[in-house]
Amino acid sequence: MVSKLLASFVSLVALFQGASAAPSDTRVLCPDGRNFASNAACCALFPLRDDLQKNLFDGGRCNEEAHESLRLTFHDAIAISPALEAQGKFGGGGADGSIAIFSHIETNFHPNIGLDDIVEKQRPFLQRHNVGVADFIQFAGALGASNCPGAPQLAAFVGRKDATRPAPDGLVPEPFHTPDQIFDRLADASNGEFDPILTVWLLTAHTVAAADDVDPTVPGSPFDSTPGVFDSQFFVETQLRGTLFPGDGPNKGEVLSPLRGEMRLQSDFAIARDSRTACEWQSFVNNQTKVHDMFQFVFHDLSILGQNIDDLVDCTEVIPVPKPVIGRTHFPAGMSARDIEQACQETPFPTLPTDAGPKTAVPPVRD
Ligand code: HEM
Ligand SMILES: *[C@@H]1O[C@H](CO)[C@@H](O)[C@H](O)[C@H]1NC(C)=O
Repeated sequence: MVSKLLASFVSLVALFQGASAAPSDTRVLCPDGRNFASNAACCALFPLRDDLQKNLFDGGRCNEEAHESLRLTFHDAIAISPALEAQGKFGGGGADGSIAIFSHIETNFHPNIGLDDIVEKQRPFLQRHNVGVADFIQFAGALGASNCPGAPQLAAFVGRKDATRPAPDGLVPEPFHTPDQIFDRLADASNGEFDPILTVWLLTAHTVAAADDVDPTVPGSPFDSTPGVFDSQFFVETQLRGTLFPGDGPNKGEVLSPLRGEMRLQSDFAIARDSRTACEWQSFVNNQTKVHDMFQFVFHDLSILGQNIDDLVDCTEVIPVPKPVIGRTHFPAGMSARDIEQACQETPFPTLPTDAGPKTAVPPVRD
């Protein structure tokens, strides 16, 4: 805040002196001699960004590591509970890096299954760059998502306080939880901000997602047919009638999916059909602006849970602006409006074209 005020004061002075300085000229040149930043605190993120893009995200792809890095932001941030604190217990610190700092404890919590993998892949980057752990986790997730066409430019802040103790178990939602359990947990973590509607917005992340551990016999089973694109296909495909399992299902937290190779979480299925959220779920279908804007909004707040925004510096400028969405919203080949399980009572399902060709089968996401 103070530095922002100072920056605008400096640019005002420049104007009064008749200089042609625009506010953007108040940016500082980083020690690398190449990048300019609105705040010197952002400078460390440029070399980190370039290193992650090259060596974790395969030269800037929406790859499995990008997906896992985005998932990790949620599992670190959501572990905070004012309700536990009210009972005199430690409730976790939110987006405080605890999942990586105490990974030997937290990645053994059941809902965090599989996250040990991305924590260990990220660790060498953490060690060679001068960035806090909490800031690193949220930055890596925002950067990974930026490689997925159609994604918003997600917020990146620095200055978070790192955890000094692990979060307690039991705070991360599971796919076998009921909508009530999930809505209550997200509301608790956010002091009421994340209501059922914003929970739908948060679940937009599952448009670039796959499961390795729900059914370990078919790792990499995607949640929609376009796991490399941040589009609204997830909202279409979760509304289709389920007919099969990608592997030897049903496993715990899994329900029938509509496409060969696709994984459907019981929680996504239930929230897509719950009377409190069905119309909001459907409203994302074919509305890329909404997909983009609503996820940008909720990620900002998710990424600073447990932190005081006044202590943070906004470095979102370091995150590349993602490419526009690829493709148009459609029914997968072999499917049509007849395969929709209409759950929103107020509005009919949008009219969509059907992809040409034989019935869509979805290949697994691999490294
Ligand atoms: C609120 C209830 C949620 C539940 C029950 C849930 C559950 C799950 C499960 C079971 C998986 C598969 C993990 C595996 O087997 O590999 C998954 C993947 C994923 N989740 Fe969620 N999730 C929720 C919310 C979110 C939110 C809010 C985000 C936003 C950051 C998110 C981001 C992801 C991503 C990106 C993946 C894909 C990871 C990969 O492809 O490796 N999830 N989620
Ligand atoms: C898309 O969503 C936005 C945001 O909720 C809304 O204002 C707009 O009317 C929607 N567009 C369409 C075509 O439904």
